[in-house]
Amino acid sequence: MERIQGAAETHVLILPFPIQGHINPMLQFSKRVACKGVKVTLITFSDKQFTKGEDGLVSFESISNTSEESRKDMGVDDRMKKFQDTVRVKLPEIVAKHGESGFPVSCLIYDSMMPWALELARKIGISPASFFTQSCAVCAIYYAVHEGKLNIPIDDQASVSLEGMPPIEVYDLPSFVYDMDKYPGALSHLASQFLNIGEVDWIFYNTFDILEEEVVSRMESKCPIRLIGPTIPSMYLDKRLEDDKDYGLNLFQPNTETCMEWLDTKETCSVVYVAFGSIAALGEKQMEELAQGLNMSNYYFLWVVRESEEKKIPRKFVQETSEKGLLVTWCPQLRVLAHRSVGCFMTHCGWNSTLEALSLEVPMVAMPQWTDQPTNAKFVADVWKVGVRVKVDAEGTVRKEEIEKCLRQVMEGETANEIRKNSQNWKKLAKEAVEEGGSSDKNIEKFVEELKCSSN
Ligand code: UDX
Repeated sequence: MERIQGAAETHVLILPFPIQGHINPMLQFSKRVACKGVKVTLITFSDKQFTKGEDGLVSFESISNTSEESRKDMGVDDRMKKFQDTVRVKLPEIVAKHGESGFPVSCLIYDSMMPWALELARKIGISPASFFTQSCAVCAIYYAVHEGKLNIPIDDQASVSLEGMPPIEVYDLPSFVYDMDKYPGALSHLASQFLNIGEVDWIFYNTFDILEEEVVSRMESKCPIRLIGPTIPSMYLDKRLEDDKDYGLNLFQPNTETCMEWLDTKETCSVVYVAFGSIAALGEKQMEELAQGLNMSNYYFLWVVRESEEKKIPRKFVQETSEKGLLVTWCPQLRVLAHRSVGCFMTHCGWNSTLEALSLEVPMVAMPQWTDQPTNAKFVADVWKVGVRVKVDAEGTVRKEEIEKCLRQVMEGETANEIRKNSQNWKKLAKEAVEEGGSSDKNIEKFVEELKCSSN
């Protein structure tokens, strides 16, 4: 798809939080905005230098001033501080540079995890917009914390009632709510996304209207949110834009050929795809149970185990997998999910993985690990009914028998048929939301119109 020509060059900067699960949706959003005739520059915090994308849709600016190697030993807080310090210095320089070269910047769309960027944008004289990468339900929960409407610390036994949400148990909440001691500071950081929300010019959510209808209307009554998702490369949905080129923004190296060639040899819907995103780390015991559960199910499986996790794979299992399984350190997830051989996705329910599977009609076995994932898993199993959720035993482990049972439930039989039907419907609705004239597409168009008016 070509960019709309002839419009004045309105210029937007996009600033993602530099982890994979936040870069991906903001990159896809960048492409959609660029297609509406806006110049878009995405700011990266990587050692790699990015040039203008080959098809000219999105430009890149790297603001890294240290090597990944030197950041490796930093704790999360130090990394965040380093990132923030760098942005504070580099962002004004980037804006000034573009102003001098005739492409003045009019808006900064920053990841909602960095509410401090609002003040910075105002100081430089550009409009601030906040982009929330998590589901509307999860945002509503953090908003309730911000408003003091959830009693924290939460009582273990309580079931939680929040306007616009189905009744949920404590362990359906984001882990930062029920496991505060384990992640000190995380919950107040996430609630702080809403501290200055009333001063932001635009607020974007990576979801679509029908998907979270009730909770969306609750949040709309609090702040003017714009739904722009799902941010899936359109080659998989409405086929209007270019392909799913990642412009080198993959922080991990995918084993693309190995995966795709292996999948090509398998029958339709015969493979279980297993992946837990870019951060979650399973314990050794859990890895052992998962390996055994996969073996017991006897399905073919493609399992992503990141390099940093590889040492936890049981050795015996690796020797036994050559026939049934393929282990890789990273894969082109969207291509894998779109492949006809994949019959289900065993997932941690990161919001991107959830949206990707839902939009590509891949039934899920939800095995949430932490952060927003328990809430996403709740919706997958009980609201959208596009998968089942594993049960955890008293020691916090998902046993091999449970894994085998859940895999069977989504791969064959009555439950699997129901799930497949629901999945087909959600794919249709996701596609409708993003295609030309769809609800999310219109919201992006409206934003672009407003932006152009405000920068004239
Ligand atoms: C993080 C959080 O953990 C998640 O819960 C939150 O919603 C977003 O930020 P992450 O854990 O990495 O993200 O999971 P997810 O949101 O699913 O994002 C992972 C991304 O990496 C997806 O876009 C997925 O397609 C991609 N991926 C994953 C690959 O391209 N290849 C892989 O092998 C695995």
